[in-house]
Amino acid sequence: MSIVRTDLPLAPGAAIPTLGFGTWQIPDGAPAYDATAAALRAGYRHVDSARAYGNEASVGRAVRDSGLPRDEVFVTSKLPAEIKDQRKVAASFEETMRLLALDYVDLYLIHAPWPWSEIGKDCTAQNKLVWAELEAIHATGRARAIGVSNFSVTDLQAILDGCTVVPMVNQIRWFVGHTQPDVVGFCKQHGIVVEAYSPLATGRLLGDTRLAAVAARYGKSVAQVCIRYALQHGLVALPKSTHPARIVENADMDFVIGDADMALLDGLEGAR
Ligand code: A2P
Repeated sequence: MSIVRTDLPLAPGAAIPTLGFGTWQIPDGAPAYDATAAALRAGYRHVDSARAYGNEASVGRAVRDSGLPRDEVFVTSKLPAEIKDQRKVAASFEETMRLLALDYVDLYLIHAPWPWSEIGKDCTAQNKLVWAELEAIHATGRARAIGVSNFSVTDLQAILDGCTVVPMVNQIRWFVGHTQPDVVGFCKQHGIVVEAYSPLATGRLLGDTRLAAVAARYGKSVAQVCIRYALQHGLVALPKSTHPARIVENADMDFVIGDADMALLDGLEGAR
């Protein structure tokens, strides 16, 4: 097993490890602590959390207990999607920092352009004001980088039209068959790093026989092919698992998917 670590440039003087450990749906307490600790032991140097995941305290404790120098671990958290009142941003960030018990986060994201209970609602005006609050946090140095999540081209363009700091990241749901080429193309054009959450489609891709055939050609698992596929598209991949053996497996990226197989996987667009 060998872990291939690569970084993408994020901002002047900052880089983001392309393999991150996703912690969505991992409960606070022992599950989140143990999984994050296992990921750090396995060589991950990037952990993705969020206020909404409810597990920041355990994620932060695992990072602190790891013995790794703080500047060797890239930690992300997110402003809850429901917070669209700019007066509530600073307090939510403080709560995140209190729970993580870290001096700074490497990346702080607006979790979504709309509250989860109102997906698709036009919150453009609020998002611009909320973004200005993130810019203010960034200026303090306590969020080394700032960005967004689940933003469409329209949502991004609205921010770009009035911002001082261009979002550095857009974290989106991305996997084989669901690669959102419009958003990814727009982000690449504007130097915005794209992060893929749910790169295994929350596990739904694992039983796909077409992916199994590709994986067999490299002696790898379907999960590994899905993660490698995101990396070869120039994305940051954020696979999640609570099983130590799978956490290790998902970081073994010491192979390259050939052009023909990349084309085959690209051809599955819309198939899921
Ligand atoms: P578990 O946490 O029980 O290991 P995604 O990253 O797309 O959200 O997918 C996460 C889902 O895929 C979880 O249900 C996780 O289960 C499962 N999973 C993650 N890695 C692997 C793997 N290498 N093999 C099988 N299942 C995996």
